[in-house]
Order: sequence, then C-alpha cells, then structure tokens
Amino acid sequence: MSTKGKVIKCKAAIAWEADKPLCIEEVEVAPPKAHEVRIQIIATSICHTDANTIDPNFKEALFPVILGHESAGIVESIGPGVTNFKPGDKVIPFFTPQCKKCKFCLSPLTNICGKIRKFDTPTIDQELMEDKTSRFTCKGKPIYHFMGVSSFSQYTVVSDVNLAKIDDEANLERVCLIGCGFSSGYGAAINTAKVTPGSTCAVFGLGGVGLSAIIGCKIAGASKIIAIDINSEKFTKAKVLGATDCLNPRDLDKPIQEIIIELTNGGVDFAFDCAGGSDTMSAALDCTTVGWGSCTVVGVKAGDEGPNVSPVKLIMGRRINGTFFGGWKSVDSVPKLVADYKNKKFDLDILVTHTLPFDRINEAFDLMNQGKSIRTVLTF
Ligand code: APR
Ligand code: ZN
Repeated sequence: MSTKGKVIKCKAAIAWEADKPLCIEEVEVAPPKAHEVRIQIIATSICHTDANTIDPNFKEALFPVILGHESAGIVESIGPGVTNFKPGDKVIPFFTPQCKKCKFCLSPLTNICGKIRKFDTPTIDQELMEDKTSRFTCKGKPIYHFMGVSSFSQYTVVSDVNLAKIDDEANLERVCLIGCGFSSGYGAAINTAKVTPGSTCAVFGLGGVGLSAIIGCKIAGASKIIAIDINSEKFTKAKVLGATDCLNPRDLDKPIQEIIIELTNGGVDFAFDCAGGSDTMSAALDCTTVGWGSCTVVGVKAGDEGPNVSPVKLIMGRRINGTFFGGWKSVDSVPKLVADYKNKKFDLDILVTHTLPFDRINEAFDLMNQGKSIRTVLTF
C-alpha cells in the first residue's frame, strides 16, 4: 500500500534534552510539502557534531530534536514542484544546501548557500522546514529537525536543495559517510587548503574527519603527513592511510608545535585542526611555517570561543582558513564523490569500525565518546 500523501509512523531517536541518552520513540512524519522530499533512511553514521549538540556546554541547541546528519537513503515520495527526484532514487541528504540561485551559489569562491539561515550557529541551522514548521511529531509535540537532515529516523523530510541523487548501485552503508565526515576532512585538504605535491602536512585529531583529511593530503601528493592525537590507538589507521609520523602530545615533554617545527625544518606547509577547540587550533596555527603556512579549521568543540591569535603570526605570512562541508558544492559534488568511491579513488570501508542496528544508537555514541570507534554505521 502506497504511503504517498499519508503520515508515516516510524521509529526515530529523539533527544528530549541535553546530556541524556537518546530515546527510541514512534514518531509521525508528515508528507513532504512544496520542494520537499520524504526519504527512507537506510544507513546513518554518527558524527561528533551530533554529540556536541547534546553537550551541556552547547547553549544554542533546541529540544526536542531528531539529530543525525550523515546518512543515505531512498526517496519515498516527493512534494509539489520537485523535479530532480522520484520515488526509489538512492540519495544522500546533507546540511549544506546548494540552491544554485543565491549570491554564494553563483560564486565559485564558496560552497556556502544563502538557504543556510543561521551563519553564526550553522550546526543548529535548518531546525525547521522553510515554512517554519516541522514535519515530525511525537506524543503530540512537534520535534525539531537538525541541520536540515535528521537522519536518526526511519523516515525524514528534507528540502530538495539539501539532497543529491546518487548511483543506483551505491552501497548506502558506506557512502553515508560522504554526507559529512569524509567530505569535510577530505575536502579540507583538497578544496580549502589545496595541499600541493611534495608538501608537509600536520593533522590534529584522528577521528573520521581527521583520517579523511589524511586521505586528502595523501591523494594531493604530500610528502610528509604528521598525524597527532591524544589517543595513540588512532595511529594504526592513520599510518595505513598515509601518515608518515604519529605524535601523541601527552607523551612529549615539549609543546607539540615545537616538535613539529623541529621535524619539518621550521613548520609545515599545511595544518588541519580536526579535533576542535582552542588548544588544537592554536597548535595547528603555530606549527605552520612562516611565509606561507596555512591552517585549516575543520572541527568545532561545543562552547569553545576559539584562541587568541597573535596578529604577528598572521603578518608573518601564516593564514587561517575554515571549511564547511569541505568546500564541496553539495548537489554538484556528492554524486561525484560517490563515483570516486566506486572507482576506488579512496577507501571508506577503513573508516567504518562498527555496524549496529539503529536501536543500539546510544552504544554508538558511547563508542565514539570513549574513542573506540571511527565511524559506527546504524542500519534500520
Ligand atoms: N589533541 C589531539 N587530538 C585530540 C585532542 C587534542 N587536544 N582532543 C581530541 N582529540 C582527538 C580525539 O582523541 C579523537 O580521536 O580528536 C579526535 C576526534 O575524533 P571524533 O571524536 O571521532 O570526531 P570527528 O567525527 O572526527 O569530528 C572531528 O569535527 O565535526 C567536528 O565537532 C566535530 O570537533 C569535531 C571534529
Ligand atoms: Zn558531521
């Protein structure tokens, strides 16, 4: 029996408040309105930004909310005016829209889109659909969307500019990583920093984002890739992916930036903060070379205001960049990244350490918070 035009009752994980486990509940998912698409989520992974949102230090979060923004699924039905999708299409939803009409989309300089409404808190942006209402209800209460995706639900509704159709043969349990973590780290190296052949790189934080940055540095031809984490268990995968040196700041008797400067004859060409927070951001900037060193900020820690940056460091030729979704113009790039994975340009399998049924979502958060997983893929 077709569900088109009807409310769907299904399972979702709701964050009712900060700092509490998610609750698996039955939710009602309304049909898509104009320029919206309802999708069945087949696989979703967990990213640190989901955890940051329920961190009590992150004051802007809205509750109750259905988190999740790294996923892949199948179109169930489309709203009026949707022309690029049809039921049955395999798709990846994402938090960086590409409307192709605004001043940002018309510029080759950025992948930011004017459909993002809260540029100062992009991680809770798109908490309602464009008509300022939610498509989710639970126990009679409206539930907020999250980053325009809300993939911790069997069904979700997204705007048609937050969605890309992908190859019918794509393995959704792997390409879901392209929805955030992989693309953010890989694109930070390829698009934002534009790592050059023969260059030296330092990557701080070796979660899914940092390891993906290493993949990008390696593909770009970096000759030295220094991988840094306070958890030495992360080094095995970093080395497999191309790290030439691995450093744990907790094992060193000097600040990490000093060691990196010594190892690289004055500092690296490119540094990436994929851990998030003032300390790693400062260290990443400080370990870059005078003259042209480039520091790219990828990670954000809940409630962190960022470091004090000495103007002299910048005057001496260092640069700080930030990257949102790795600089990829989402609608155009996501299908190409899926094709690159199929053509074995890079490996996503190595990033998936666990696969669990959706009901065990809180275990997946524990694995991430305890540093035991890179990515856990949840299946419905
Ligand atoms: N120095 C070095 N590494 C650190 C530090 C530190 N001070 N603090 C944390 N790390 C490491 C952790 O040990 C972990 O291996 O950073 C890694 C972060 O990995 P994940 O928790 O798996 O996070 P990930 O999903 O990769 O996201 C990274 O990007 O989206 C943002 O908010 C997210 O800040 C997070 C970052
Ligand atoms: Zn993410």
